This record gives sequence, C-alpha cells and structure tokens, in this order.
Amino acid sequence: MDMAAIAALAPVIPVLTVESRETAVPLARALVKGGLPVLEVTLRTEAALAALAAIAAEVPEAVVGAGTVLNPVQLDRVQRAGARFAVSPGCTRDLAAAARSSGLPFLPGVQTVSEAMTLADQGFRLLKFFPAEAAGGLIWLKAVGAPLADLCFCPTGGITPETAPAYLALPNVACVGGSWVAPRGVVATGDWQSVERLAATASTLKRR
Ligand code: 3PG
Repeated sequence: MDMAAIAALAPVIPVLTVESRETAVPLARALVKGGLPVLEVTLRTEAALAALAAIAAEVPEAVVGAGTVLNPVQLDRVQRAGARFAVSPGCTRDLAAAARSSGLPFLPGVQTVSEAMTLADQGFRLLKFFPAEAAGGLIWLKAVGAPLADLCFCPTGGITPETAPAYLALPNVACVGGSWVAPRGVVATGDWQSVERLAATASTLKRR
C-alpha cells in the first residue's frame, strides 16, 4: 500500500501519544474496533518505539505508522520497529531522500505553497498540512486547490469533531489527522469503550 491507499482506509488518522507499551495494544484495538485502522504513534514519548512495535506485532488489523519523524535516523528506527508508514510535521531534503530510498510510505508535513511544490517535485503528492488550524485551515486548503491541483492533503493540528466535516468535504483533502479520538485522560484511565465510541463516530465522517 502506498500513502494514498493508506489514507483512503479511513477519514481520520488518530494521532497517538502513547505513554506506555501496555496501553498501546488495547488502545489500538479499541480504535480499530471503532473503525479507524490507520494509527499514527508519535515519537514523543520514551515508550513510542516499543508501543509501535507492540501494535505492529499484536494488532495485525491496524495499519500502524510513526509520527513526529524528524530525521533519517528516526525514519530508520521506526521502519525497523514495524511502522507501515511515517509522518513528519515538516520536511528536510535529507528526510525526503531517506523516505524515498527506504520505500516506506511517507506523509511529509508542509505549511506553505513553496514547501508543497518542493515535495511535489520529489514525487510526493499527498502531504500533511500542519499545523492546519494555525496555518490557515480551510481557507488555505481552498485557496491552494486550483494552483496545486495535483496535490492532496491530510490536514492535522487543531482539528475537532466539529470542524472535521468541513475539511473532509474539500476535494483536496484525503483524510484528517487528530488526537481527539484518544484523549489523554480517557487513555490514562483505560476507558477503551469511550475510545471505541469516539472512533466509531469519527469513522462515519463523510469524505467528498
Ligand atoms: C499533533 O502533532 O499533535 C497533531 O497534529 C495532533 O494535533 P491535535 O492534538 O490538535 O489533533
């Protein structure tokens, strides 16, 4: 599966900050059961790599990837841990080159038209628009639709259940990313039924 095929699997990619390996598997199972199989585990905690590996090994129905991948060394680590894709908040030339040569599906982050053009030149057609709300949100995506007609986006950052439908209605939005389906407090208490309910609601969001 390439990145476009992965993004096509669900309207929302849960962005997960996992504090322990033990939490990772039941969290992933609840999200998948709710209808969100594509999961992004951010490299922001000590447990992130172990969490990613545990999901990859124990939740085969999930398509688990790594987020907050900032450089080629991290890209290599997440690929070895079993990530099926990688996401970055922005992108460097080295990271884009490493992603291309690794063969790992890659969702590089952009915030400007020039960044999007640079990545399009390198063959990336699906880009993460980050931080979406802070960087212009719906207005930005509508404005770039005509000039960047070949590109599609996964806006992430500040998106809520209330704003997600308007993003998903845009023709240049493939899916959205967000942490709202796995709120920290809910995850900390192990309330997997609530996570599953949030995922089930998110999974029914319509795309254009
Ligand atoms: C992030 O990097 O934290 C993601 O963009 C998720 O953002 P959110 O918490 O605003 O959904």
